[in-house]
Amino acid sequence: MPWFGLGVYKVEEGQEVESSVKMAIQAGYRSIDTAAIYKNEDGVGKAIKEAGVPREELFITTKVWNADQGYESTLAAFEASMEKLGLEYLDLYLVHWPVKGKYVDTWKALEKLYADGKVRAIGVSNFHIHHLQDILDVAEVKPMVNQVEYHPKLSQVELLNFCKENGIQMEAWSPLMQGELLQNEVLMELSEKYNKSVAQIILRWDLQNGVVTIPKSVKEHRIKENADIFDFEITDEDMQKIHALNENKRVGPDPDNFDF
Ligand SMILES: NC(=O)c1ccc[n+]([C@@H]2O[C@H](COP(=O)([O-])OP(=O)(O)OC[C@H]3O[C@@H](n4cnc5c(N)ncnc54)[C@H](OP(=O)(O)O)[C@@H]3O)[C@@H](O)[C@H]2O)c1
Repeated sequence: MPWFGLGVYKVEEGQEVESSVKMAIQAGYRSIDTAAIYKNEDGVGKAIKEAGVPREELFITTKVWNADQGYESTLAAFEASMEKLGLEYLDLYLVHWPVKGKYVDTWKALEKLYADGKVRAIGVSNFHIHHLQDILDVAEVKPMVNQVEYHPKLSQVELLNFCKENGIQMEAWSPLMQGELLQNEVLMELSEKYNKSVAQIILRWDLQNGVVTIPKSVKEHRIKENADIFDFEITDEDMQKIHALNENKRVGPDPDNFDF
């Protein structure tokens, strides 16, 4: 799984998603993160075909939406997503949210898709430790990824340690806190020190914590900027300064308390 990719949440179906995915792939991105609920799988699929990079070099993620959870309905939702994406196989399929009473059956469907070779890796999203434990108790195949909200104001150390201990790769959504962190003073100071943008400091912090990251942008210069994080290293001391920003603050819902 690539350490870095493009997120396409709230990117419009059609021209907007097609051009941002193509720009990203041409700039060297190999991983694209979409979901059925983003309603842009068609455009992601079209862009992948037109970008001129062999399919096997790409890593495509999509997710089963809450309304489709349950065993049979997940299998059907997977086929619908694949039809839209126009792909023969998927790289990573995720359970989008831990819908009470359903996520274990949904997981069983993902195990079946994995066993049938339709998807190369299966995982979950927005799972707390107790949700992961429910899956681990019954799983034949353990979740390989947990994609969660993760940024310096929500560094989820306990969850990250649990994932590492259980061989589950953590992946950060809203790594830039949807733009809210870009004026943070500590991060702005580090930006000056390393001669990197605040976004690059945050994304590099993700990688040094062993967390895969998938920032979203529809702008070519930011798509390129966000990926330019492999030529510097944040010192341990500065990593700690960023950790100290944690406030357990979310921009999205708490997975223990959502109603969709
Ligand atoms: N599993 C889940 O439940 C879940 C939930 C939310 C998100 N996600 C995934 O995670 C991805 C990323 O999260 P996100 O889209 O919520 O937020 P994000 O990546 O934290 O932030 C995106 C915002 O930051 C701006 N931005 C991006 N790069 C920038 C830069 N270098 N400088 C200044 N501004 C910049 C973007 O604007 P422009 O586009 O105008 O550049 C956009 O407004 C999503 O796209 C989606 O794939 C998953």
